[in-house]
Amino acid sequence: MFDESQFDVHLKLWALRIPRELCKVATRTLNGYLLDKARIKPITEDPTCERNRLMILSEKVQHSDLSDIPEQVLDEMKKLCEIEVVPYSLTLGYSYWGADHLLKQILPPGVEVPTSFETIGHIAHLNIHDELLPYKDVIAKVIYDKNYPRIQTVANKVGTITNEFRVPKFEVLAGKSDMVTEVKQYGATFKLDYSLVYWNSRLEHEHIRLISNFQPGETICDMFSGIGPFAIPAAQKGCMVYANDLNPDSVKYLKINAQLNKVDDLVHTFNLDARKFISQMMSLPASKSSLESDVLTKECEINRELSKQEAESDGTPVPDDNASNGDGPKGLCAGAVVAAPAAKRPLDSSKEGSIAEDCSVLVSSKRKGNNNKRIRATELSYSKTWKHVDHVVMNLPASALTFLDVFRGLIHRKYWKGLSPLIHCYCFMKASETKESILAVAECALDASISEPIFHRVRDVAPNKAMYCLSFRLPEACFNEDSDNSSHPAEGKP
Ligand SMILES: C[S@@+](CC[C@H](N)C(=O)[O-])C[C@H]1O[C@@H](n2cnc3c(N)ncnc32)[C@H](O)[C@@H]1O
Repeated sequence: MFDESQFDVHLKLWALRIPRELCKVATRTLNGYLLDKARIKPITEDPTCERNRLMILSEKVQHSDLSDIPEQVLDEMKKLCEIEVVPYSLTLGYSYWGADHLLKQILPPGVEVPTSFETIGHIAHLNIHDELLPYKDVIAKVIYDKNYPRIQTVANKVGTITNEFRVPKFEVLAGKSDMVTEVKQYGATFKLDYSLVYWNSRLEHEHIRLISNFQPGETICDMFSGIGPFAIPAAQKGCMVYANDLNPDSVKYLKINAQLNKVDDLVHTFNLDARKFISQMMSLPASKSSLESDVLTKECEINRELSKQEAESDGTPVPDDNASNGDGPKGLCAGAVVAAPAAKRPLDSSKEGSIAEDCSVLVSSKRKGNNNKRIRATELSYSKTWKHVDHVVMNLPASALTFLDVFRGLIHRKYWKGLSPLIHCYCFMKASETKESILAVAECALDASISEPIFHRVRDVAPNKAMYCLSFRLPEACFNEDSDNSSHPAEGKP
């Protein structure tokens, strides 16, 4: 931490003791020889006599005989009163010198003061270069002072990120050591502990861009969700979201954020390795009744009709706990009834077992206070993720491509409904690589060729490295054509 006292300067000055009623006229007479009033008040109380004042002379008056002051000025003073010269000690601290002045004094000539930093709630995230590390405390102090109260913690990233959760290590250099903060993005609030979870404010545009491709009622699987910058706004849009992250702290804040934004009934959270998560989401449930219940039965049709009527009478689909039973035909009936609140559903990954079994919940438009337009009952969709998922988000650019092999033979053609999912796989592209070479890596992982791939350049992360989003529809060749339900080829992969 920055030690302010290191900038204390002790001055030995001289002061004139004069009657207080003469201060005004003496100030005019001594113009230019008093301590600069813009910096410190040059007139102060006399501790020995309350009828007197001490007029502090500037640093340029160095001798007690006042020989540094022109004779004419001294004569004027002598006409006013008898002059008594007394020694005066003064300590000028950090606040006197000011942040910029200090930096100029401290930094070697030609070294630029870092002024830009990433802001995460009340935290300023610095990446101080090695050559400036000896000055890190004063740099942090200056940034803190200039930006307080907006900034209350200044933290510097230490070393490079090596952990799988993509969380940097930080050293708090100025302000409070509180790394729990709140960030707002596109109307959603995200709470996070910046020292424990991944967060990058520079991805805001990308989050918005991708979510703009999602439609209300669609099902989204987010394999590397972090604290929910895709998941929460997608749910706010009316999507059913299955969000997973390996970092338990990310999942903790994901849940908090789902509640904070009143979408906890649409965001189902998992704390698994992404490979296991997506395998379990898309592989077939163990129970035969779940598998066979995809035909809209008469009962379903009736429920659908009832639901329609309810929607028409009061405009709101009514929750029905029975609907959360995924095994029966009711649980499958698109738009028939509304699922129970998420808390009641056994969907959390903390519960070991088949996720797919539990993923037969209905998407509801009954939002708790968010401003989405209500979705009518007919627009509700079931969410048996082994039957249909609209989008899979894979934002782990350093290695997401290597996870693509999980999709080989994962989806069973026999049970899948509608189009294959759109995969949004983030990756880095170095100067030595091309879209073609990235595509080749993806195709090799899938063991299938990708038609109509879309590359979106997200941002430059280094002079020779950019982040891209590769979006494509999962090739038909990846589907498992096997009619035997027992095979789950993706499970157990390394
Ligand atoms: C680059 S961050 C993206 C987070 C979030 N989607 C975003 O856009 O800000 C990648 C996330 O993947 C998680 N992660 C890393 N390896 C994982 C794995 N094998 N399975 C699941 N999640 C993983 C990390 O904890 C981190 O939160």
